[in-house]
Amino acid sequence: MTIESESELIGLKKIGRIVGLTVKHMSEHLKPGITTAELDAIGGAFLKHHGAYSAPRLTYGFPRDTCISINDEAAHGIPGDRVIRAGDLVNIDVSAELDGYFADTGASFIVPPVTMLKHRLCHHTRIAQRKAMDSARAGQRLNAIGRAVEAEAQRAGFTIIRDLSGHGIGRGLHEEPHAVLNYYEPRLRQRLSEGLVLTIEPFLSTSAHSTITQPDGWTIKTFDGSLVAQYEHTIVITKGQPIVLTAV
Ligand code: CO
Ligand code: CO
Repeated sequence: MTIESESELIGLKKIGRIVGLTVKHMSEHLKPGITTAELDAIGGAFLKHHGAYSAPRLTYGFPRDTCISINDEAAHGIPGDRVIRAGDLVNIDVSAELDGYFADTGASFIVPPVTMLKHRLCHHTRIAQRKAMDSARAGQRLNAIGRAVEAEAQRAGFTIIRDLSGHGIGRGLHEEPHAVLNYYEPRLRQRLSEGLVLTIEPFLSTSAHSTITQPDGWTIKTFDGSLVAQYEHTIVITKGQPIVLTAV
């Protein structure tokens, strides 16, 4: 959506803060021995307490409230009996709706012990996300976002998962523009306009460029078993630095 009034911005800020706090709250319970279903229940209860509804459940009939993806799982992991282990790279992605407004955020966490490779992967994915947000201003082209992600991935020696991208959001979970690509696409010449609401969510990998959907119909894994990290924020485009709705 493109924001046209102060009340729309207030509505988006409200749900943005809730999803941001939900990821933070869940991450504080992340430790070896907890199952992904237990972690999801903590997130689900937190959303409910704030009056918010899980967006993937509402929109697509996802069977749980949050997505938890581990190691070579890039996205849309279904919480269940899987037990978190020491050394796991865990991505928590939360999107939700409140009063007709949607926001979406995600982050990757390493359960100690931390290896240099996992640390570097998370660090550079976070930097790529930040640099992409810095490049997203009114008047710039949509492909400036992918160019910023690609530059950071190349500098760090990591690959980009090319089949996962950011997206427009606001009155629904996925809106125009549908592909906020994480690599430079010259044909993506559309200009970013003031008030546009979108997510920026690079997925970097230690070696994979693409993913395969698992037989459960949801979980997306790298084709070669390599690790993935993702950081995601929902932002509003302005003439200067974007407004980060999901920062907490
Ligand atoms: Co997300
Ligand atoms: Co998203």
